[in-house]
Amino acid sequence: MNTNKQTAGLRLVVVGVVLAVVLMTTLFHSTFAMDKSKFENCDQKGFCKRLRGSKKSSYIISSQKVENGVFTATLENKEEGSTFDPLTLVIESYENGIFRMKIQEKVDAGVTLKNRYNVKDVIVDSVAKVPISESKQNVLTNGNSDLVLENRDDGFKITFKVNGEDVIVFNEKNLLVVENVLREKNENYDGESALGMDFTYVGSTNLYGLPERAMRLSLPPTKDADNNILTEPYRLYNLDIFEYELNNPIGLYGVIPLLYGITSKSAAGVFVLNPSETFVDIIGGSQYSSHWISETGVLDVFFLPGPSPKSIAKQMAYLTGTAPLPQRFSLGHHQCRWNYKDEEDVRNVNQKFDEYDIPYDVLWLDIEHTDGKKYFTWDSHTFPTPKRMQEDLASKGRKMVTISDPHIKRENGYFVHDEATRNGYYVKNSDGTADYEGHCWPGSSSWLDYINPVVREYYADLYSFSKYEGSTENLYTWIDMNEPSVFSGPEITMDKNALHHGDLRHREVHNMYGFYQSVATNLGHIKRRNGEDRPFILTRSLFAGSQRYVAKWTGDNMAEWSHLDIAQPMILALSISGMPFVGADVGGFFGNPEEELLVRWYQVGAFYPFFRAHAHIETKRREPWLFGDHNTQLIRKAIARRYTLLPLYYTIAFESMLTGEPYVRPLFMEYPNDATTFNVDDSFLVGTDLLVKPVVQKGASDILVYLPRGVWYDYETGQKFDAGRGKNVSIATSLDLSIPVFQRGGSILPTQQRLRRSSQQMVKDPFTLTVALNRKGEALGTLYLDDGSTFNYRNGDYVYRQFSFSNNELKAVKGDISPLILNTRSNTVDSNQNRKVDNIIERIVIYGASKPSSISLQYASHDGVDLLMSPEFTFENNVLTIRKPQIPITADFVLKLN
Ligand code: NOJ
Repeated sequence: MNTNKQTAGLRLVVVGVVLAVVLMTTLFHSTFAMDKSKFENCDQKGFCKRLRGSKKSSYIISSQKVENGVFTATLENKEEGSTFDPLTLVIESYENGIFRMKIQEKVDAGVTLKNRYNVKDVIVDSVAKVPISESKQNVLTNGNSDLVLENRDDGFKITFKVNGEDVIVFNEKNLLVVENVLREKNENYDGESALGMDFTYVGSTNLYGLPERAMRLSLPPTKDADNNILTEPYRLYNLDIFEYELNNPIGLYGVIPLLYGITSKSAAGVFVLNPSETFVDIIGGSQYSSHWISETGVLDVFFLPGPSPKSIAKQMAYLTGTAPLPQRFSLGHHQCRWNYKDEEDVRNVNQKFDEYDIPYDVLWLDIEHTDGKKYFTWDSHTFPTPKRMQEDLASKGRKMVTISDPHIKRENGYFVHDEATRNGYYVKNSDGTADYEGHCWPGSSSWLDYINPVVREYYADLYSFSKYEGSTENLYTWIDMNEPSVFSGPEITMDKNALHHGDLRHREVHNMYGFYQSVATNLGHIKRRNGEDRPFILTRSLFAGSQRYVAKWTGDNMAEWSHLDIAQPMILALSISGMPFVGADVGGFFGNPEEELLVRWYQVGAFYPFFRAHAHIETKRREPWLFGDHNTQLIRKAIARRYTLLPLYYTIAFESMLTGEPYVRPLFMEYPNDATTFNVDDSFLVGTDLLVKPVVQKGASDILVYLPRGVWYDYETGQKFDAGRGKNVSIATSLDLSIPVFQRGGSILPTQQRLRRSSQQMVKDPFTLTVALNRKGEALGTLYLDDGSTFNYRNGDYVYRQFSFSNNELKAVKGDISPLILNTRSNTVDSNQNRKVDNIIERIVIYGASKPSSISLQYASHDGVDLLMSPEFTFENNVLTIRKPQIPITADFVLKLN
């Protein structure tokens, strides 16, 4: 045997393998990597470079006064001959202890600051001002929280105090800069308008908010305590970033400029109302600070006093509105792909869901369904009978969604283009001489100027059944590419000098372009049926306030484990910042998920507020039945789990509309005194009562779950876990076992256990109540029901039940919505419930009870007769199951364990 030859051969093989690996890695990276050369960093942006450096001011407060409940003062720069001009500081206050501070160039009386754009349409009309008074010298109070004004040697600072404690300090670092747009331009000064400011979060090293980016929830510093740069600052600029990278502070499709800090005693934050490009540094140390740098706009800040993370969510909702009650179907399972090819394809997919007995509610059509990417049209070859197709789906209780992007194909004869051109509805180029043109899916395109209310009305009317031919009332809408994405534009978006209605430059409103498309689309859905049903719209771009109009998904993720992992913090960051109806593409948009990843993704996705499977056009088909029978069954089981929980999700959504609390939330929102929760973002709570722990590692066989204080039960089996004051438990997991889900001891959850084709078929189904007792043997829960689609709940056409367990008795009574209402001025729900429903409770399961010797049940029947009975029960593995109590869901009852 010639060993030499063998070794040489082996070497060749090794070299071959290495080369192949290198090649594969390169190829892989060229397919799956963000092209950083397309995007600019802080240094490449004049305004960010100027302000991120050591530009410090030394303003002091002078000529201060409180008049008519509003504080005003002048900020004068101490240094002589400085380039810092005097500024005007105005502070007002709203209910709930919120302060609002505006700083602008000081102008002479009678001169208006037309050069800075004041944001409209984000803060809701129902907010109410509270007069400010000076409780003692230099202390402003709104009765709820205080601002302490102080002139130091090197400049002023303002300390925000809540419950007597300092929580946020404004201008601690003297980074206040307001470049003066009113100044004459000269060789030293070219009329810049950037803004800079800093906030110190007293005692906090956990800052949250600033969506949207693919980062962990607790945002790491971008500078160290000595101001050394660690990374790029967080960027707030709506962008379509192809194959976005994880843990990169660059901003993705949406912006909510909220940043709050927590300690185990308090939570307090700032909401900065500015839609222009903004960078935020988080400066590390023993307590973190944030340095905000905006390209232009008004320095307009809301101080949110907390004092808990949940109250921050409520304060954001108080200011920017809550998400309205969604269509019930939209909380079901959605099936999407780019693209279902034709009507036949749609028919087949729809049929297959029934064959495999997998529920779903909505089938989605991406851009290929149109005639040449002309939205509001259909490809007549592939989709010749769109109405019939929608009616077919509707006959199974299902809906359809089509996509509608904001770029309009510049093709003569396309009615939208013709009308927009004729009426001047497009955004204009920088010198205002012609419509702005760029490249997107259809080729040469222009963009509707949604900033203009007239264009919003026009766009809304495009959704009327007469204008949008082939649309029916079972068709809803997906608005995409609305950052806006412009393939030929700088950083794949619109030229900042493009001109909008009202002489606004695109730079002034960039982050609100998608917001305004959402407003217009929502209006269109309201108008097309004269307000008879609730809109359902999904958007990719957003700004603070968008939750009033749309649901949101996290864009183009990848079929990789790391993307499954990051989906949780991304969803949570949006949720805590005011956008509750949110999800990530299940399966991952780019690439082909391996079977295990896909199953795991369904198992988690079934708990996202918005639950949709979606895939890129170049991926292999991946409907749930394409991965072998066993995997199909696992996916089916995951989806079925969601459907059983629909009553819970719907109840949470109803309550969220009134309270402003998110649908899903990080653990720290419910356990703010437990500092261990501050860095937990790989599990989440559904409402307050279900703790979901996604499995995001390949081949995981057990997994550590942090259970906060109290008692928890395995949601499926009722196995009890006493978490004491909070502890990690190790849980066995496998694809078959699905992901760990726990029910909080102290909660009662309503479910519907019969598997149907879609949510509509469940309307009359009976309920199961799962009662999980806390250490005191008590529990609480609610259930909301209505017609699922109209606004009639506003007139009381709904049922809201409250269940409570204590002293071995389960009681049901009419629920009272009044404690939920965040702002009575914005509440539209009549508190008198008058809906008639016939559903019954078919089962009551109690976790944590002892075995009773008998059970008695007492309630009044529909015709008012008092009934007393002893329902059957079983007791196994510490789970008490009461079979067929058959109580009408609207009946007040008492069920006693003897
Ligand atoms: C980009 C969206 O993020 C994606 O979901 C969609 O499939 C494509 N645009 C095509 O419309």
